[in-house]
Amino acid sequence: MSALAGLVAIVTGGAQGIGRHIAIGLAGEGARVVVADLRAPEELSASLDGGIAVEVDVSSLEACERMAQAAIDAHGRIDILVNNAGIWSSLVPTPFEELSVEEWRRVFDVNVLGMYLATRAVTPFMRRAGRGRIINLASGTPYKGVPLFMHYVASKGAVIAMTRVMAKELGSDNVLVNAVAPGFTLSDGVLANQTQVEQLQDASAKARVLVRDQYPEDIVGAVLFFAGPASSFVTGQSLVVDGGAYFN
Ligand SMILES: NC(=O)c1ccc[n+]([C@@H]2O[C@H](COP(=O)([O-])OP(=O)(O)OC[C@H]3O[C@@H](n4cnc5c(N)ncnc54)[C@H](O)[C@@H]3O)[C@@H](O)[C@H]2O)c1
Repeated sequence: MSALAGLVAIVTGGAQGIGRHIAIGLAGEGARVVVADLRAPEELSASLDGGIAVEVDVSSLEACERMAQAAIDAHGRIDILVNNAGIWSSLVPTPFEELSVEEWRRVFDVNVLGMYLATRAVTPFMRRAGRGRIINLASGTPYKGVPLFMHYVASKGAVIAMTRVMAKELGSDNVLVNAVAPGFTLSDGVLANQTQVEQLQDASAKARVLVRDQYPEDIVGAVLFFAGPASSFVTGQSLVVDGGAYFN
């Protein structure tokens, strides 16, 4: 029997890139996946057994509550939330003194507030059920203090901090919260940003113990671990998945 058979998982930002591969991976383990993104990814959800597509902007509490309700209406439960929606691939390297306040706010609205709101929306259902798994997409960048992306790096540092708080506040209801921190990954969004690819691809690969590019598929196993029975006594942790560029 598949490890996640009968369970319902929401993946935010699931239309493309890392989120898309996570959605496919969860469905492969038997989960019914609610793929949520700015535009409902109907084509992907239709290809997944029991999949549904939901339109959500995670920076809106109402939209996150509608997303959670759509999962309940379709399947009657929410077992897993993967907080993957995030702004990264559209960013250009900028000294922090030159970052616009608008861009800083936009990154925090999605990466930090959005993660909080999506989590808040599913929490009542998980608490009531007395179980749940929340997996937050962080990044290796806050460990390394990667320059020229201060807003992004700070937002992902906040994700690691929020993961710990969420784990403590939700542990009494058997809701486990962990983070996965990928290295520079050739996702759909990244591949559409040639500047990022040119500036970061080679340097990232060479900095790894396992010297090669990182792909969305490389991240799926860690998410499945945190979603499944093998991690039932693990919470509040952040697992760096980057081919050994940073030892956490
Ligand atoms: N690619 C990398 O190098 C890398 C490294 C570390 C961490 N991450 C993190 O992994 C996650 C996915 O990254 P990716 O490279 O696959 O991204 P991507 O740009 O390929 O895809 C991101 C998806 O999130 C969606 N999204 C953006 N804002 C949203 C919002 N407000 N509400 C709902 N959906 C929204 C987009 O529509 C898109 O489908 C992000 O949180 C990112 O910060 C990426």
